Amino acid sequence: MRKQIAAANWKMNLTVTEAETLLYSILDAGIEVSENQKVVFAVPSPYLAMAAKKVADYNNISVAAQNVYSKKSGAFTGETSVSMLKSIGVVHAIIGHSERREYFNEGNQFIAEKVKLCLQESVVPIFCCGEALPVREAGEQNGFVQTQLEESLFDLSADEIQQVVIAYEPIWAIGTGKTASSDQAQEMHAHIRSQLAGKYGEAVSENVSILYGGSVKASNAKEIFGKPDVDGGLVGGASLIADEFVAIIKALK
Ligand code: PGA
Repeated sequence: MRKQIAAANWKMNLTVTEAETLLYSILDAGIEVSENQKVVFAVPSPYLAMAAKKVADYNNISVAAQNVYSKKSGAFTGETSVSMLKSIGVVHAIIGHSERREYFNEGNQFIAEKVKLCLQESVVPIFCCGEALPVREAGEQNGFVQTQLEESLFDLSADEIQQVVIAYEPIWAIGTGKTASSDQAQEMHAHIRSQLAGKYGEAVSENVSILYGGSVKASNAKEIFGKPDVDGGLVGGASLIADEFVAIIKALK
């Protein structure tokens, strides 16, 4: 059965003291994360080792990198490899976040290489997809997301695709306070799942967690997560506020 996941994406925020305070106050809030759920903290890279060590004592709570490079090792100044992550106990990585696509020109093929390498090394990729506003306004979002899936994921085997977590994040809803309605989220999630079913069969598609991202907060999480094809969220702004994120965790199915 697929997991229900609350993933915090702290992006490029917080000093180490602030990061520790935030992480500790969420963990100390007595959250119960059941076996069919998972909580993930995508912290800034300098804090990965600290966070991984801290969550090691908790069940079903993990740390994720916000990015990772597509090559195993070598002369790639400034980059982080998958094996570096594993060596500090980090086995999740966000791949292809829209901010990486937009500001660092990451394309579908490059993202495909990262996903593949993560899977080869047993790191769970949290693969992000989603359309910008003009695409949505033109009514072309389904085809757009379908191409992202085809070009970055559909070379994977059926075994591999079931290890991937997909995050649908409409770009027009990220950091804007503008959330997709729960029906819009469900519609796209069902579309993504039907694409997976078409390629890999229905049983495989039912095993893939599909998260929604874009202005998720305590006040809307329950409704969005309540939709049948929404398996939790990738949360930016609201994950920087302990009470908000704790409530979001509690809103998981
Ligand atoms: P937001 O960010 O929750 O601040 O909209 C989500 C994301 O970019 O992952």
